[in-house]
Amino acid sequence: MSEEREISVNLKDGSSYTICVAKGALATIGEKVAALKPCRTAMIVSDETVGPVYATLVKKRLEEAGYEVYDALVPSGETSKSVEIASELWQELAQRQLCRDDLLVAVGGGVVGDLAGFVAATYMRGIDFVQVPTTLLAMVDASIGGKTGVDLPCGKNLVGSFHQPIYTCADTRCLRTLTDEDWANGFGEIAKSSVVCSERSFYEWLRDHAEDLCAHDDQALEEVVARTAEFKAKVVEQDATESSGIRECLNYGHTLAHAIEAAAGYGEIGHGRAVAEGMRFAARLAVQVLETDTDFVAKQDALLDSLGLEELAWTCNPDRLLKLMKGDKKARGGAIRFVLPHDFTSWELVEVDDDLLMVHLSAWCEAKEKLVEAG
Ligand code: GLY
Repeated sequence: MSEEREISVNLKDGSSYTICVAKGALATIGEKVAALKPCRTAMIVSDETVGPVYATLVKKRLEEAGYEVYDALVPSGETSKSVEIASELWQELAQRQLCRDDLLVAVGGGVVGDLAGFVAATYMRGIDFVQVPTTLLAMVDASIGGKTGVDLPCGKNLVGSFHQPIYTCADTRCLRTLTDEDWANGFGEIAKSSVVCSERSFYEWLRDHAEDLCAHDDQALEEVVARTAEFKAKVVEQDATESSGIRECLNYGHTLAHAIEAAAGYGEIGHGRAVAEGMRFAARLAVQVLETDTDFVAKQDALLDSLGLEELAWTCNPDRLLKLMKGDKKARGGAIRFVLPHDFTSWELVEVDDDLLMVHLSAWCEAKEKLVEAG
């Protein structure tokens, strides 16, 4: 195992937890969890893709540490983030007689983490849970900060709760099995974090190591997971429930991204690529609204390109995008809000007037149409 990095998340309510990042970190998960929670029973929730590999390993480690361990595998993919699957898991927990002192362990990507976290948040009014993220996206974003939930047929993440894990174990060895789309999803959130992070050194490091990351260099991957997790931990410490405005920075690029993903049909355009596109759009909007320097836009474009997040060749009707943005749960009273950058490290949450937004959306759709035509 490489040297473990431990990142603390110290919340304002006095609670805290550790995010462990290392290649091979799963080797010690049993003893780490047992030290935190000497309980009898754990239920692992994973999916049918990663479960046979990583949940099996986690189960073995927990059993060695003295736990009685059950596991439940859900179908892979976003459709498992549903009330129906959550209900099946609640029933499984009840049938296995897990009680309030027992533990749930989420092993997988963002879908599994959100679903299992929500089940943990609600079963018996809340039991402890551990996050074992196995994708880059989950390691740098979804497994940190306690956002849990399920989707409804009419929208993503519409039912949920804030419920922080008691421990997050990010073993970068799990990244070996990622698909190209999984990498893009992680790189999109990492690029976003580097722009809104208050320390410019994050962006500079990412710019200088993009090639190593694209080559999946072990050291660079550990470093980027640790840096991004550290950044997110700091944000969550200040605004765990997204109520003071600070956590909103994590939504940079997401206003357009969510609309693009919904318009294309979920799963058609990966989240990371949609976020990258949303960042390009927001940066250009910022030039007009905040007088952001075009040099920033060029630097951000170059960063995204270097991470393999090239411009999206996809378009749709601008009215449809506007309508989808208005329906997003981040909109307030119909007003569409964007995180807009002044530069790296500095951003503002801005309500953008519909007319101005339509001008930009129309131009964006037109430009995209040309890209599509050019093939
Ligand atoms: N993924 C955004 C957040 O955790 O707030």
